[in-house]
Amino acid sequence: MARLDRLLANLGYGSRREVSALVAHRQVELDGVVIKDAGARIALTPDLSSRMTVTGRPLDPPAPLTLIMHKPLDVVCSHKEAGRSVYELLPMRWRARMPSLSTIGRLDKDTSGLLLITDDGEFLHRVISPRHHVAKRYVVTLDRPLDGTEVDTFADGALMLDSETTPLAPATLEILGERLARLTITEGRYHQVRRMFAAVGNHVTALHRDRIGALGLPDDLGPGDWRVLSPVEQGRIFA
Ligand code: URA
Repeated sequence: MARLDRLLANLGYGSRREVSALVAHRQVELDGVVIKDAGARIALTPDLSSRMTVTGRPLDPPAPLTLIMHKPLDVVCSHKEAGRSVYELLPMRWRARMPSLSTIGRLDKDTSGLLLITDDGEFLHRVISPRHHVAKRYVVTLDRPLDGTEVDTFADGALMLDSETTPLAPATLEILGERLARLTITEGRYHQVRRMFAAVGNHVTALHRDRIGALGLPDDLGPGDWRVLSPVEQGRIFA
């Protein structure tokens, strides 16, 4: 149960005072009935967004919320980095949500593909924690032809990246073409994929993540598109 004014304020609809004014102006309805008391206690059922309206529109999905996005090129994953961020692709009001939304790991500005965004700290931790070995798969386009030796170099668990003190965990490389490969890693070190190819004398010219665990980037999600991740899809991440 949550107080209506706190629920709406936490979803970014305004301060407690502002959302109380919305209620006073008969702008909030539950099951088609106007709610008159900003202090009303609301049961946080999964179907709440389809039962409650604010100014005639369905309530934003309450926490915990996880989104799947097809991150386009040229947007950043951090609030602090310069440039347009993935958060700007979401509704403006969501920037004021509490708990706030954060990306699960990061993709570089010049990397596209599957990105998860959540306000669920426990879920975020499960996905990024090295203990859970969640596989992340990337399609990599390279500047120079692959010579095939990279497969063993990446698989043997001894590759050391510049200025690091522990070797990388084994990674799986599938060669798809002269300059095209799929790389699956279970860690998330800084610029890991680009640095792995730099370590074998190559250079990544395009990078796209197409899978996390057994969750693939859906074909109907174009660059910049996003939607709420279903519980079944969440489960695929750990399958
Ligand atoms: N590895 C990289 O180098 N960049 C990414 O964006 C993701 C993995």
